[in-house]
Amino acid sequence: MALSQEDTSVGNKSAGSFYEKKRAKYISSSDQSLKEAGERIRSGHLVSFPTETVYGLGCHALDPIAVSRVFDAKERPLTDPLIVHVNQVQDATKLWEASNSESSMSNSDGDDSVFISNSNLEKRALEVLADQFWPGPLTLVAKASPEIPSIIMANTGFVACRSPSHPIARRLIAASGVPIAAPSANKFGHVSPTRAIHVMDDLGMEDVWIVNPDLDQDGEQTKKEFVCDVGVESTVAKVEFLSPEGMGRVSILRHGAVSANEILDCLVKNGLGGSFEVVEKMQATGESVSHVAPGQTIRHYSPNVESFLISHKRYANSSNTWSEEEKRHLETAVIIDFAGRLNSLKEMALAYRDLSSDGNSNTAAANVFDALRWSETVDGVKRVYYPEIVFDENKVGNNEALVLAIKDKLTRAASGVVIDILR
Ligand code: TXA
Ligand code: MG
Repeated sequence: MALSQEDTSVGNKSAGSFYEKKRAKYISSSDQSLKEAGERIRSGHLVSFPTETVYGLGCHALDPIAVSRVFDAKERPLTDPLIVHVNQVQDATKLWEASNSESSMSNSDGDDSVFISNSNLEKRALEVLADQFWPGPLTLVAKASPEIPSIIMANTGFVACRSPSHPIARRLIAASGVPIAAPSANKFGHVSPTRAIHVMDDLGMEDVWIVNPDLDQDGEQTKKEFVCDVGVESTVAKVEFLSPEGMGRVSILRHGAVSANEILDCLVKNGLGGSFEVVEKMQATGESVSHVAPGQTIRHYSPNVESFLISHKRYANSSNTWSEEEKRHLETAVIIDFAGRLNSLKEMALAYRDLSSDGNSNTAAANVFDALRWSETVDGVKRVYYPEIVFDENKVGNNEALVLAIKDKLTRAASGVVIDILR
């Protein structure tokens, strides 16, 4: 089932008729193109652009009609909130309620000593985290100021902001002059895009401009390099106080390149260690994921091919043998491996790709979404297998946070289904 650019769109609406004309178009990353793209954003229309994590589908964050166009194009449920992209920390603080409240209060005795309120602590935590990790792959979620359109927040009252480091993303934000709301530029539930062509494959039938840095001045395809070098989405961290007298909490809602430990270290270093705890609310598997973090449903990032995680118990068993039936399944299976865990299946499989044979998690993260999309295009593929990654098996790569993110993507690609016997 080798898919061409015209027919790889997922979802009924996007697939359309085979002969339906594409509406999306590529633009280059020249100053002139980005200036026009900025005008397009300001006027309420959609532009897809690379960030250091994945491609985003951008719109004017403060224009609810523009935001609804993003939900429509992605076929994304309105219960899944969007991240607002800004260049400067101050542009985000304007969007958060805590940052707009009084900066200090006298205590009840009228004493001049400063009583630090929770909202000041929250503001301080947001500032120190943004100072340390921005621009970069950390999204900070906090109580929203009243003028934020509720559609962006999925009515949660909390708004997510991040400042991307990718130069094209930054130039586009500057050119538009407004905050840009941008989910990953894939159809809802499909694999996130890390190249312009991935976006065209998913959103080709939508009214979207796609910034393609591979285009030179003449519009020729000249470079083939990755533009999203982190390769997996930002870490999402929510900063809040659950009760007026309680501790502050930073909840990790999605694993990305920034780890929970780095976040805790930053808070401690800035004197906030006694006021905040850092908790990991995300489970890489688990039924209740969607209740914990909006938009984090278990089936996510899926290739359009049945997918399974092979259990660690099975593949790590040294006296393991594969039955004749399992070998037959392997003949139509693509294997996406990490650090050679499924190496013994390589020769039997239809196709095999290792995200990083030496377990380098930076390389693996940069490859994972491209590999998931590739698996759909292999002729004759009927199933995709991934290794179940068991975290404490001494195979952890060089960046624990990214290994967790990779584990999360593979688990979701397989809808959390772990098998002992190949099927
Ligand atoms: O790296 C990234 O974050 C990319 C690039 C384009 O910046 N964006 C991205 O957006 O991954 P998206 O829409 O695919 O994922 C956003 C996720 C939501 O699904 C949700 O889990 C979390 O961020 N999120 C956003 N707003 C939130 C909110 N108000 N409360 C809780 N979680 C929120
Ligand atoms: Mg996404």
